[in-house]
Amino acid sequence: MRTPFIAGNWKMNVEDADALAFIDAVKDRIPPKENVESAVCAQAVSLKDMKKRAEDTELMIGAQNVHEEASGAFTGEISAPALTSIGIQLVIIGHSERRELFNDSDERVNLKLHAALKHGMTPIVCVGESLEEREAGRAVEVVRGQLQKALEGVSAQQVDGIVIAYEPVWAIGTGKSSNPEEAGEMCKTIRSYIREQYGESSAEAVRIQYGGSVKPDNIADYLADEDIDGALVGGASIKVESFLSLLEAAS
Ligand code: G3H
Repeated sequence: MRTPFIAGNWKMNVEDADALAFIDAVKDRIPPKENVESAVCAQAVSLKDMKKRAEDTELMIGAQNVHEEASGAFTGEISAPALTSIGIQLVIIGHSERRELFNDSDERVNLKLHAALKHGMTPIVCVGESLEEREAGRAVEVVRGQLQKALEGVSAQQVDGIVIAYEPVWAIGTGKSSNPEEAGEMCKTIRSYIREQYGESSAEAVRIQYGGSVKPDNIADYLADEDIDGALVGGASIKVESFLSLLEAAS
């Protein structure tokens, strides 16, 4: 049985004081990790203090990006060793905003994934088609292609600890969520891909989240699908009560 995993992706939205106030407000109300694993991925500047503030809780603190190199002349970037040195073990890789706005190609997503794994981090690897690709009937082909490139060179042992987030680009931040059947079908396709490449036990182990306009009032519809193991949530993860409602629905 896979434990559900709800991760908030705050994007560039929550400043330091509010991030710390959020931790204080939720820390005694996080469900046990046996029921649901929970995380918030915040702006890099807040991660160290958030991690300290959350140390007696089961809430994980994650980063939203990582550079593929461990060090060097990469102004403005953050390395996996720098993240792990402050206790950050979780990182989102290949979010569609990174792919679209910051040139995170499939190849770069693969390099970042290897960097995260090499340093013992848990990556949440995002895949998902655009509206144009879905309307052209290419959604499955696009997502399988993203998976194939992202996972190149990843071993069966490594893949078991990876989280995959299926986020149809057209459903992100639009209020236009994918219908749960379509989302479930794509998550099943993703699991089948893992089965083909890595075998049954990896297919059973890998957790697959859905992301795109998930809210407290629709999350249960997604989690009811056997192939959806959680959610990567943007807007609805920022407010305390909304985040806690998402965790409650999953636990
Ligand atoms: O990473 C999270 C996704 O981009 C979803 O964002 O829940 O605001 O649609 P959203």
